[in-house]
Amino acid sequence: MTSRISENLDTLPNYLRTAKLPDGESNLGEVISAIALATKAIARKVRRARINDDIIGSVGATNVQGEDQQKLDVISNDLLIHCLSANPNVGVIGSEEEDDVVVVRPTAVGGEYCVLFDPLDGSSNIDVAAGVGTIFSVLRIADGADGDAAALQPGKAQVAAGYVLYGSSVLMVLTLGNGVDMFVLDPELGEFVLVQTRLEVPREKKVRSINGAYRFDFAQGYQDYLAWTESHGYGSRYIGSMVADVHRTLLKGGVFLYPATTSAPDGKLRLMYEANPMSLLVEQAGGSAVTGTGRILDVQPGELHQRTPVVLGSAGEVEIVLSHL
Ligand code: AHG
Ligand code: MN
Ligand code: MN
Repeated sequence: MTSRISENLDTLPNYLRTAKLPDGESNLGEVISAIALATKAIARKVRRARINDDIIGSVGATNVQGEDQQKLDVISNDLLIHCLSANPNVGVIGSEEEDDVVVVRPTAVGGEYCVLFDPLDGSSNIDVAAGVGTIFSVLRIADGADGDAAALQPGKAQVAAGYVLYGSSVLMVLTLGNGVDMFVLDPELGEFVLVQTRLEVPREKKVRSINGAYRFDFAQGYQDYLAWTESHGYGSRYIGSMVADVHRTLLKGGVFLYPATTSAPDGKLRLMYEANPMSLLVEQAGGSAVTGTGRILDVQPGELHQRTPVVLGSAGEVEIVLSHL
């Protein structure tokens, strides 16, 4: 029977209930639901920036925690930790805003997943109402590997990854390891609804996304690449929020770069909760993600907050970058 309903009611909860999850990952949907709930709460906060003064700046000098505790990146961190701790399947959490991994519950009592996240990416853009995001990575914890060992797995071990972009609309881009799907938050329903399945990053697009102000701090190969793009009709797009820049790259093609600089010899972006989840999404959409010397998803991490150079996007464009290095 053809439906007479014109509303999109393909909600994320329905999607997760019917998704073909990898073998042994039947509780993965519950973890994604917990992340979705936290990001809906973050979206509500982001929308109220400057209306409620607890989001930008401090609430006053009397706050014993100091003004940073009122910043939206810390509020976002608290919301994610709250929602994930309440989920019986989550064992370990790692966040940009926490010094060390947080053990929520041992594997022995069901803590089977480790969730790593950047609670608010591009947070300086909040001040100017530009796009910001949340990036997340989900790993299965090996039995008894409570603590650092739960988190320190290469990106190729991720069972799910995604981001939420708080932009002109709020959307989630998600992979459960079998393609990439996109959801938009319907503010009236209060649910993410499926808007596009099987995203594919175009193989070629003459757009580079890089902070060109560091040009002379990059290795010579990157300088050569930038010069080459200028004589080959490339455009340039850079917001300064990884989520927003990668989202555009995923949908429209091109290449996003954050190479090492003289002052940041390992680059700026964090492997575990920025580069790895974005790399899984880009690869699942048919693109490439490399450090400049190898595949990002193959990097064996040594510590939670380690940094990595990043080159990702259209497979053809990443090849051109590599040919200059
Ligand atoms: P965060 O706000 O989580 O610290 O991340 C900011 C990152 C990332 O979003 C962006 O790609 C990069 O910083 C921009 O850095 P530059 O200002 O050095 O270009
Ligand atoms: Mn970030
Ligand atoms: Mn952040």
